[in-house]
Amino acid sequence: SFAAVASVQAQTFPDRNITVVVPFAAGGPTDTVTRLVAEAMSKDLGQQVIVENVGGAGGTLGAGRVADADPDGYTLLLHHIGMATSATLYRKLSYDTLNAFDYIGLVTEVPMTLVARKDLEPTDLKSLVEYAKANKDTVTVANAGIGAASHLCGMMFMSAIDTSLVTVPYKGTGPAMTDLLGGQVDIMCDQTTNTTKQIQGGTIKAYAVTTPERLKVLPDVPTAAEGGLNNFDVSIWHGLYAPKGTPADVVDRLSKSLQVALADKNVIDRFAELGTIPSPAADATPAALKAKLEGEIARWKPVIEAAGQYAD
Ligand code: MLT
Repeated sequence: SFAAVASVQAQTFPDRNITVVVPFAAGGPTDTVTRLVAEAMSKDLGQQVIVENVGGAGGTLGAGRVADADPDGYTLLLHHIGMATSATLYRKLSYDTLNAFDYIGLVTEVPMTLVARKDLEPTDLKSLVEYAKANKDTVTVANAGIGAASHLCGMMFMSAIDTSLVTVPYKGTGPAMTDLLGGQVDIMCDQTTNTTKQIQGGTIKAYAVTTPERLKVLPDVPTAAEGGLNNFDVSIWHGLYAPKGTPADVVDRLSKSLQVALADKNVIDRFAELGTIPSPAADATPAALKAKLEGEIARWKPVIEAAGQYAD
């Protein structure tokens, strides 16, 4: 019977390496989250969980790769909020977001930070806004492509200050950070997973966190509201997906393993250092991720339609 086949699969799964596709470049926030979780899942599953970076087109290339992969539990996708926004932002996707994947569980919630190259003139958010308005044709904003978290946050910033700036797309905010450190690009709105260490080390400048409260790891960085920008509240969530049609027992095994990984001391400690919040075990489940994705597609659709800017 199907049930018997599925249960045999789950007993032997996994019997070889698993690949998790990160739909952004190496060295960035999604990559960092995935490598930490993959290492802990490897221990739990007794097989290597290998990360493969497939960056480009705001995460939609990597997602498409996994949508087309064999639904056997050996190719997974770790993606963020962009999974929801790209469903509306992209007129043509190679996959149907809500029907192309099985859900394993939610992984994290990550605050964002508005940062700049170290020597950018403005010293606080208020002066950054004035500076950006006065230099809108030359101030450059890095992002990881349309639908990336950095793109959304950058758009929110430009909309909050009612000024359109020059955007520079990368395959991930890992390489964007390299250019910010090198002074080739001016500002970026990026996840704390990627910015906390740099801000603490003084290698980049931080103007604001996008949360209602200041962050424990960045106590000197004001909230956007403190700096005079309201409605600038955004957090990035990550989920773990499998191609649609993956055996239920395999999905269940992976979900249990994700829960173990999120309770792993190294994961908890490293996430805490980076201002990255692991999802509670109750949310590292297929049902919670499905509900989150559906809710976020519905929440962002009217916002994106109102902005009226799409990718092909
Ligand atoms: C990355 O991993 O590069 C980021 O999540 C990109 C982004 O969405 O801004």
